[in-house]
Amino acid sequence: MKMLILFVTTLLMFCVFVPLSMAAPKNPAELYTKLTCHTCHGPEGRGMIYTENKEKYYFRKKAMYRQMIKKGMPVKIVKKLKPLYKKKFDIKEKFLTEVAALIGKEDSEKYEDIIIGVAGRIYYHKGDLIPGFETYPRHVGNQKLYLYRQMKDILEGRRTNGNSEAMRGIMPFIESNKITDEDFMNIADYLSKVKK
Ligand code: HEC
Repeated sequence: MKMLILFVTTLLMFCVFVPLSMAAPKNPAELYTKLTCHTCHGPEGRGMIYTENKEKYYFRKKAMYRQMIKKGMPVKIVKKLKPLYKKKFDIKEKFLTEVAALIGKEDSEKYEDIIIGVAGRIYYHKGDLIPGFETYPRHVGNQKLYLYRQMKDILEGRRTNGNSEAMRGIMPFIESNKITDEDFMNIADYLSKVKK
């Protein structure tokens, strides 16, 4: 009987504990986004930077028409663009479709560079910091152990300053996802290996 109990317990241990301990480790890159880290530290911990160029296109000044003529567009074609005066576009394709509707596809392609050059306005550049996040740290280039310690210190309240409270907002995610020290270490390892 004793033997049987021992056997059954051993079997149970195997069925319950072994799969648990052998469960695939959580992927740190996935954890990083799942725990919303990227919403403050940017993709791969690179900081909150714009990853695309944002362009706006508009004809606001009649002077723009003059510039187009100066750059080589025939007056006749430029005149056809007049309905666009004071119009704004956020999307390049929409802008070009409207231009093509007025001057024809062929000429719009022919003079695209001039039109974009004169009427396209870039409001920010790829890599610029997003306003409001200027003081949030980026992780690229930092040591694994440093990152690990800072995360623990912030989340456990040993590192406190005007910014730390923002980061502690993720505590509910940390708890509901049962994040262990090993997970934190793996995230730190992942962040420390992101190429500059
Ligand atoms: C709501 C915004 C926010 C979120 C979400 C967030 N953090 Fe932070 N994090 C901060 C701020 C702000 C600081 C700076 C705090 C300070 O100076 O004490 C910080 C600091 C850190 C630091 C220390 C960096 C250094 O150079 O000293 C690490 C590492 C870090 N965060 C990792 C993470 C990870 C990993 C996650 C996801 C599990 C995460 N953060 C989620 C805002 C956030």
